[in-house]
Amino acid sequence: MKVLIATQKPFSAAAVALIRGELEKAGHEVAMLEKYEGQADLEAAVADAEGLIIRSDKVTADVIAAAPKLRIVVRAGAGYDNVDLEAATARRIVVMNTPGQNANAVAELAVGMMIFMARTQFTPATGSEIQGKRIGIQAFGNVGRLVGQKAAALGMEVMAIDPFIPAEKIVEGGAKPASSLEELYASCDYVSIHIPATPQTVRSIGYDLITRMPKGACLVNTARKEVIDEEGLEKALEARPDLKYVTDVMPDNYAALREKFGLRVFATPKKMGAQTAEANRNAGVAAARQIAAFFADGTTRFQVNPF
Ligand code: 3PG
Repeated sequence: MKVLIATQKPFSAAAVALIRGELEKAGHEVAMLEKYEGQADLEAAVADAEGLIIRSDKVTADVIAAAPKLRIVVRAGAGYDNVDLEAATARRIVVMNTPGQNANAVAELAVGMMIFMARTQFTPATGSEIQGKRIGIQAFGNVGRLVGQKAAALGMEVMAIDPFIPAEKIVEGGAKPASSLEELYASCDYVSIHIPATPQTVRSIGYDLITRMPKGACLVNTARKEVIDEEGLEKALEARPDLKYVTDVMPDNYAALREKFGLRVFATPKKMGAQTAEANRNAGVAAARQIAAFFADGTTRFQVNPF
């Protein structure tokens, strides 16, 4: 089978070699499309692909229409909001993710971002310590759980909430369950966001939640920019000159935020949470193995569009 690795933001060369090795060992042909300019490049490259490995690359209905032979798409990573599941399902194309494989990289970045903001973006201004502060984890999945463990090891008190995880499991995971999102935001010096972008979560975090945060609090977003109501965030930062926002998913209004709020806000120029050698290797190799298993015997573990 022909498998295309389409990564606008490429995996490391070492990870690519391993992914290629896994696929070729299973008898597949590998094609590469890296750092491409636009969707037209992806649409041309998928023309003869039967399998597709992507990262945050956008697999739209147009991409699917341009890929008549496509049978499987694996998103090497967690979030699959970049894939048009409806269009894929209509063609009975299996879509999978590789849950947990890049979680540690993202969790380490979330902790690093907290410290970066606590120490006023590594300027000489007097900062604060995170030890003894309380962190609220919004969604206690693979990343959220790891952020909680790392925060606890640094002496933070950990609270969490997850609509899909019962309170006793949150306790088992080492966190105190919050009874509501409002409580989480109102009681935590840091809130770290780990929810996916879905119709229910898009623009769900705005003025009301953010202004509930205690004095000097900081919101940390390594998830998706879409979950923030950006106007609400801007209003909240205006109304509360003590609050801070740090993110790995740059808001559309970042230039305005930075100009207005200076060192109280920070966004990485390009999403880098999963950009470690380890995460590239883990997620990439998992994706290759999942494709090989699917073509070998129809295994559909981690399929996110069951049909
Ligand atoms: C994910 O959903 O796995 C992360 O956002 C990482 O995305 P990336 O592979 O585009 O870096």
